[in-house]
Amino acid sequence: MYLTHLRLVNFRNHVRTEIELGPHLNCFVGQNAQGKSSILEAVEIAATGRSHRAARDTDLLHFGESWARVHAAARRQDRDVEVDILWRTEMPAAGAKEIRVNGVPVRRGDLFGHVLIVASTPHDQDVVTGAPAHRRRLLDVVLSQISPAYFFLLLRYARAVEQRNRLLRDLAGAAIRERETALEPWDEQLSTMGAAITARRVAMVRRLSQAAREGYAYLASDREALTIAYAPSLPPGDETAMIVAARDAFARRRRDELIRGTTLTGPHRDDLRMQIDGYDLRTFGSRGQHQAAMLALRLAERKVLLEESGEEPVLLLDDAAQLLDEERQMRLMQLVERAQTLLTLTTTATLRRIPTETAVFKVAGGHVEPEHAHAT
Ligand SMILES: Nc1ncnc2c1ncn2[C@@H]1O[C@H](COP(=O)(O)OP(=O)(O)OP(=O)(O)O)[C@@H](O)[C@H]1O
Ligand SMILES: [Mg+2]
Repeated sequence: MYLTHLRLVNFRNHVRTEIELGPHLNCFVGQNAQGKSSILEAVEIAATGRSHRAARDTDLLHFGESWARVHAAARRQDRDVEVDILWRTEMPAAGAKEIRVNGVPVRRGDLFGHVLIVASTPHDQDVVTGAPAHRRRLLDVVLSQISPAYFFLLLRYARAVEQRNRLLRDLAGAAIRERETALEPWDEQLSTMGAAITARRVAMVRRLSQAAREGYAYLASDREALTIAYAPSLPPGDETAMIVAARDAFARRRRDELIRGTTLTGPHRDDLRMQIDGYDLRTFGSRGQHQAAMLALRLAERKVLLEESGEEPVLLLDDAAQLLDEERQMRLMQLVERAQTLLTLTTTATLRRIPTETAVFKVAGGHVEPEHAHAT
């Protein structure tokens, strides 16, 4: 699939930006702080309803404005898709927004799967070195794009964890019988949902790991081996076995959970381990290795999304080529030629080779102008 048109109104530093995209490589070139990443961010929101870098939706509104809008049009093999997102400060709930797909209002979860993306951003550094939540989010975004039902399951699970935590705190001084009666239904719900989420994540990591290993071997020319493994808090097994394991863990850690007032077992505590040649990437990897590993993982996402949907996802590469050496950069450019790619750059000189049919856009002060298409 590919995006044909983007419109950003009062979005970040874009007051009104219209972009006609090419089906292949689209380069957004400009100096720092001109609005390049904001364009990719708008696409991320059109695909997933959220930006990885906005703590609150209201941060997206152009300073001083009371509303903002993003419109994205895409061509898929079988149909055209239009996504419209509207934010208004006077909306009833904080952070609420109106989402429409082909003119029909939908919930955020139902947005997934229409515009498929794989996003590589400077925040990928947090995926390698930051808190486990960043790594879980990576898995959840891929799984949600494949199945909105997964997103809704995750939402129900997160709410249940929150309610159970509240209960744990309220029940800290309660009698055993009262405590057990109150917690039991929550233990039951969380065991079932937790096992379902873990099972899907385990299966996804297995697929991603295989593809990422191949991608990394390609990018890093076979010299190093990348491995990715899921580290679940439940002992991995089939779903039924994990439900039993979760119930056991809740019973075993009851005292601990009541003291700490928080749920200690389940997929909200899981992590992803990344290693190169058997060494922990986070601790021992160089910055260039971090970037190559993350790119390999992003390209693995692309492969899985393509296999699942039959559609080539749109690749968003924000400052992605910067740390790669010349050879790795060349290999990346060869790989991305197959998919529509939105690439940000401070200068086209960074690119050793610009593929044919590349669309180049100059970005300055929230304005975007097409430049002549290059061919080399
Ligand atoms: N809500 C907002 N309203 C207006 N301007 C904003 C808003 N949020 C961010 N900005 C500004 O928009 C500008 C563009 O940000 P963006 O991240 O898109 O830049 P960039 O071109 O990707 O820069 P870099 O090369 O440094 O990554 C920045 O100056 C930023 O401070
Ligand atoms: Mg940027």
